[in-house]
Amino acid sequence: MDIIGIGYLGFETPDLDAWREYGPQVMGFGIAPSPASDKESLYFKIDDRRHRFAFHPGKVDRLAYIGWEAMGRQAFDAAIKTFEANHVEITRGDAALCEKRGVRELIRFRDPVGYQHELFYGQKWTPRSFMPGRPHGGFLANERGAGHVVVITPEYTDELEDFLTRIMGFHWYGAGAGKGRTGFFRSRLNHHTSHDIAYGHGVGRMGVQHVGLFVNSIRDVGETYDIVKKRELPMMMTLGQHTQDPHLSFYHFTPSGFAFETIAEIEPWQGDPFELNPECLSLWGHEMVGPILGPSVKTPEEVLDPEYLASKR
Ligand SMILES: [Fe+2]
Repeated sequence: MDIIGIGYLGFETPDLDAWREYGPQVMGFGIAPSPASDKESLYFKIDDRRHRFAFHPGKVDRLAYIGWEAMGRQAFDAAIKTFEANHVEITRGDAALCEKRGVRELIRFRDPVGYQHELFYGQKWTPRSFMPGRPHGGFLANERGAGHVVVITPEYTDELEDFLTRIMGFHWYGAGAGKGRTGFFRSRLNHHTSHDIAYGHGVGRMGVQHVGLFVNSIRDVGETYDIVKKRELPMMMTLGQHTQDPHLSFYHFTPSGFAFETIAEIEPWQGDPFELNPECLSLWGHEMVGPILGPSVKTPEEVLDPEYLASKR
């Protein structure tokens, strides 16, 4: 599938007010106008797309959907044929949902773990429309997308890897440097980073572990770090440099209990002409000063839709 990367991410949260302050003031997000049909939700811009992050009111903090961007209509149509040929249940987003997401067309489907995904093309954009919520040098999004996400899966199965690699056409990066079973994957058209999504095995656990966000400069990483420290927000990992991508980053916890990894690219990614097997997670730094799994990682019963759970029983 000709997928560029993650176009948008949707979450549910009981604390929209916290995000309304935290998003612009800590992360530098711009607040996007909410669609007329979804006034109660909070939408954030990080570039010239209509939005990249949506926070919808909900009872618990959870990832609601991952929106993958197909290159265009032809890629979208071809992806639908592939899903159908592989008997993946898809539903087409109606006009009202497309309007909410600001896209031409979308489909919804689940991975074998149960996470809700969407595939879309043609999200609305306006050149030079991004205004950061605080002084900020901007995000490395645009043609790259919203960033990457690491989710926890209660069972790590061959079926999951097959779904991601054979059906969705993702490139298998490898298992990374972690101790547990983790798989890193990137979409076919991502030539910039090692992964768009990773699934980490956590027995009986589910939820988003962290979201990686690319900022334009090291200064943006440093200034975000200062703000996080000044506000005494809980940190997961201190500043450090990863092995698998030449990235400087740090991790802190958001109001929803998952972490944001704020990342500056130090140099272009080296690629992976062979399967990379990093000796260690980081070359320096990234001292673990908080839990690796925040409160956003819960039981499947807490993070999955009740209707979906009922259908699986
Ligand atoms: Fe990351």
